[in-house]
Amino acid sequence: MEVVSEDIEKRFQEIFNKIPILIRAPGRVNLIGEHTDYNDGFVMPAAIDKEIFFGISDSDDHRSIIHSVKYNERFEVDLENPQRVEEPRWANYLLGVLYKFKKHGYAVKPFYCAFGGDVPLGAGMSSSAAMECGFAVALTEANRLTVPKLEIIKMAQWAEHHFVGVQVGIMDQFASVMGKAGHVIVLDCRALTHYYAPLDLQQCAIVLCDTKVKHSLVDSEYNTRRKECEAGVKILNKRYPELKSLRDVSTVMLEEHRGEFPEKVFSRCLYVVQEIARVQAASKDLETGDLRAFGLKMFQTHEGLSHLYEVSCKELDFLVEHAKQFKGVLGSRMMGGGFGGCTINLVQSDSVETFIQNTTGAYRKEFAIDMPTYRVKIVDGVGRVPPTL
Ligand code: GLA
Repeated sequence: MEVVSEDIEKRFQEIFNKIPILIRAPGRVNLIGEHTDYNDGFVMPAAIDKEIFFGISDSDDHRSIIHSVKYNERFEVDLENPQRVEEPRWANYLLGVLYKFKKHGYAVKPFYCAFGGDVPLGAGMSSSAAMECGFAVALTEANRLTVPKLEIIKMAQWAEHHFVGVQVGIMDQFASVMGKAGHVIVLDCRALTHYYAPLDLQQCAIVLCDTKVKHSLVDSEYNTRRKECEAGVKILNKRYPELKSLRDVSTVMLEEHRGEFPEKVFSRCLYVVQEIARVQAASKDLETGDLRAFGLKMFQTHEGLSHLYEVSCKELDFLVEHAKQFKGVLGSRMMGGGFGGCTINLVQSDSVETFIQNTTGAYRKEFAIDMPTYRVKIVDGVGRVPPTL
């Protein structure tokens, strides 16, 4: 069911009997540049019209209460000392942000908060970043604070590292905060500089196919990949002490020292080095409007993620193979951390309907799963929503 800001506004009033400030925080897609953010590389995400909405107001009784509309669960926050909790797990995304606000010296008054939305969970559209960033902006609005956007992004990422336990890069939080309607963000994750490149979705659409699977070990495998990349840099550091990350590495360097690498570490590093270069080339394709060339690079990214980086799975591989055979598809690949979640497909607008029909049919036949698909729009980053009631 689609949840819109009015639903949260209404539920908030039912629960707390007050009028809230409303915030929306989008999930994201990533066109290309996967597993490059924590290697100081480039990414190309965009905020999408799958969003989490927050209602927030001052508290009436000095208690701070957060209500999850989806789970119909409430959680009372210890505002003086926000700590990680075992249950409910969803609270940790918000508690981590709160902890960081306090650490940074931002004064937070007792509050009531209710949230919910339609970013599918575990589908790789960054519901977690939307939670963190939306709540951070809700806190700034409710307390009339001025917090720079980059600080919000970093506090949200910190929450994910320390309260959720995944050593994520900065892409998802950056996209949720900095997104711009009709544009992709070309982000340099080392310099943290970015520019917006227009992406016209008239001729060609972004379609997400949700495998509906989330294989276990996603988080631990993610952290392992990060370590493998760091291990690769350490090996090269013996010869090139100045290298800081895989961003500084070329395929020539890798090949030269191949013998010193454990095989897996070599494959991981090769993928990342190739992918960083691919994003730079893909941004040129966008500039010249060559979506065909761009799409081919998406297929190449998938190859690398599947065979070198080994974060794909049979469901994702099936969907990409299937998309490859389909005439109206310009590019297709798995998106996000991997081991399930969505594929992102660049599809010519006049082929979208048949593509969806055809792919959902094939997927059902192969895996007996009804696959949700989403044709997404690119929207602005997190912000306040005018009250409607
Ligand atoms: C997850 C992380 C991001 C990024 C991607 C892979 O979405 O949150 O920081 O590393 O995986 O590209």
